[in-house]
Amino acid sequence: MPSHNIAFIGGGNMARSLIGGLIARGVAAVNMSVADPLESQLELLRQQFGVRVSSSNAEAVANSDVVVLAVKPQEMRNVVTGLAPALAHRPVIISVAAGIRASDIRRWAGGIPVVRCMPNRPALQGCGMTGLFATDDVTEAGRQLAADILGAVGATLWLEHESQMDVVTAVSGSGPAYFFLLIEMLETAGITLGLPADMSHQLAVETAYGSGRMAREATEPAAVLRQQVTSKGGTTAAALDVLERGNVRATFAAAIAAAAARSAQLADEFGA
Ligand SMILES: NC(=O)c1ccc[n+]([C@@H]2O[C@H](COP(=O)([O-])OP(=O)(O)OC[C@H]3O[C@@H](n4cnc5c(N)ncnc54)[C@H](OP(=O)(O)O)[C@@H]3O)[C@@H](O)[C@H]2O)c1
Repeated sequence: MPSHNIAFIGGGNMARSLIGGLIARGVAAVNMSVADPLESQLELLRQQFGVRVSSSNAEAVANSDVVVLAVKPQEMRNVVTGLAPALAHRPVIISVAAGIRASDIRRWAGGIPVVRCMPNRPALQGCGMTGLFATDDVTEAGRQLAADILGAVGATLWLEHESQMDVVTAVSGSGPAYFFLLIEMLETAGITLGLPADMSHQLAVETAYGSGRMAREATEPAAVLRQQVTSKGGTTAAALDVLERGNVRATFAAAIAAAAARSAQLADEFGA
């Protein structure tokens, strides 16, 4: 990967975190170029990372062998269509846009192989989770390159079918919001029961962090970890009993299904 020239179209949050992650992994800043319409954004990227910048998408991709599309989903069609002549003969293009199908990007780009990626917000902290899907014509080298680039900001997972991307979007793409909601609810409950807000915040956040680490490092499934921290007749059991009687599982299942359905609907809207 260090020898590749990587062009980013769109120099916002996701491009910035990928560039930071790649530099930390030894990719030279001079091997990366970024295009964005906003001069101040480009100046920031140049100062922070020393990457090459341009307000022209075609100029940014000119000497690159891999292109990462990091614009908002609603911009994607225009950007790819406008860039199609400059993209000709690329071995692969990578998209991180939520809800835009690889097959649509491939068509807009004039038949270039595409890897579609669905990262999540913690990628900005270097601990993201990204699902990847490749069109049939992506080579092994193209797949490796995409996994290396997204792997610079966290864990990666290949999907066999693009339809699985809607589930990835619902589980890990939207997932941080569910955990933030849980933290928020824990904090509020702590305050309601008499703790100062800052104390309640620290208790909730550190517990979320510690539980995430435990689940990540454990060999047992989450259900077993939960049983291990729940003594019969104890405090945790009292809380879980209320949650189960409140149908938390059914509510959560319905929520994730709604997110997956919305993801499919957005892909239809943007790809139309
Ligand atoms: N951030 C996340 O947590 C996250 C998670 C998963 C997936 N993603 C995906 O990553 C993509 C980028 O998200 P982001 O959070 O990085 O958004 P962002 O911060 O808004 O960055 C997008 C950048 O693209 C620029 N842009 C707009 N039109 C352009 C054009 N025609 N040519 C070149 N650049 C253009 C924007 O400039 P202006 O600001 O001047 O319009 C902006 O700087 C999105 O498709 C999103 O779905 C993001």
